Amino acid sequence: MNADRDALRAGAASPRRANDADAGVLSRLFAASFLSDPVFDWIARRDPGRAQALERFFFWLLRIRVIPFGEVWMSEGAAAAWLPPGAFANSGGFFKQIKLLAPYMRLCGLSRLARGPALATAMEKNHPAEPYFYLAYIAVAPRLQGLGLGGKLLGATLNRADAAAMPAYLENSNPWNTGLYERCGFIARRNIAPPGGPPLIAMWRPAAARSYGSSSLSQ
Ligand SMILES: CC(C)(COP(=O)(O)OP(=O)(O)OC[C@H]1O[C@@H](n2cnc3c(N)ncnc32)[C@H](O)[C@@H]1OP(=O)(O)O)[C@@H](O)C(=O)NCCC(=O)NCCS
Repeated sequence: MNADRDALRAGAASPRRANDADAGVLSRLFAASFLSDPVFDWIARRDPGRAQALERFFFWLLRIRVIPFGEVWMSEGAAAAWLPPGAFANSGGFFKQIKLLAPYMRLCGLSRLARGPALATAMEKNHPAEPYFYLAYIAVAPRLQGLGLGGKLLGATLNRADAAAMPAYLENSNPWNTGLYERCGFIARRNIAPPGGPPLIAMWRPAAARSYGSSSLSQ
C-alpha cells in the first residue's frame, strides 16, 4: 500500500499535459470529486441527474475553455486545470460560449439558472488585474484524497510559476482545502461569494512565494 501511495505521489509530482482525448476521463474525475463541493452544491440541480449533468458540463468546459490553453495536468487519479497568465479574460468568443450554454442549463436546472451567472460575475469582478497562473479546478479521485496527491500536483505548476516569477490565484470553494492552499503559499484575500451563496474565498500567491517540494512537469 505504501509503495502504491509513493508511486501515485511520484506520478502527481510529474504530471503529464492533458489533451482533447483526455476530456472524458477528466470529466468523470472532476464530476466525482466536485459532486459534494459546497459551491457546486449551490448551483447544480438537486435531482438524480446531477452527477451526469456535472460530468457533461466538465467535459465541454474542459474541451472548450481550458484544455486548449495547454495547462491541464494529470496523473493517475488526479488532475489540475490551470489557465496560463492572461487566459482568464479570453472567453473564447461567442460560438464557444454558446456551446457551453446547453450543458450549463442542464447542470443548474430551471430553478437555479440565475446562480451560475451570479457566480461568474462575482468571480470576474474580483479577478486580479495583473498576469497570474489561475487554478480553475483541481481534483483527486475521492478514494485517493488525503494521500498527498493534490499537494504534489499543485507543486508541479507552482514551481514553474516561481521559475517565471509569476503569481498564482484561485477561488477556494471548500473550507477543508484552506490548509493545503496555505501550505502551498496562498493567502486568503476575501470572500467573493454572490449574495446567498456559500463562501468562495479568493486566495493569492505572490510571485516566487517559495519552492514547493520536488514536483516537476513531464512535458
Ligand atoms: C482538494 C483536493 C484536490 C486536495 O487533494 P488531496 O490529494 O486530497 O490533498 P493532499 O493529500 O495533498 O493534502 C491534504 C489536504 O487537503 C485538504 N483536503 C481537502 N479535501 C480532503 C479530503 N477529502 N481528504 C483529505 N484532505 C483533504 C486538507 O486541507 C488537507 O490538509 P490537512 O491535512 O491539513 O487537513 C482533493 O481533496 C479534492 O479533489 N477535493 C474535492 C474537489 C475540490 O475540493 N477541489 C478544489 C476546489 S477549490
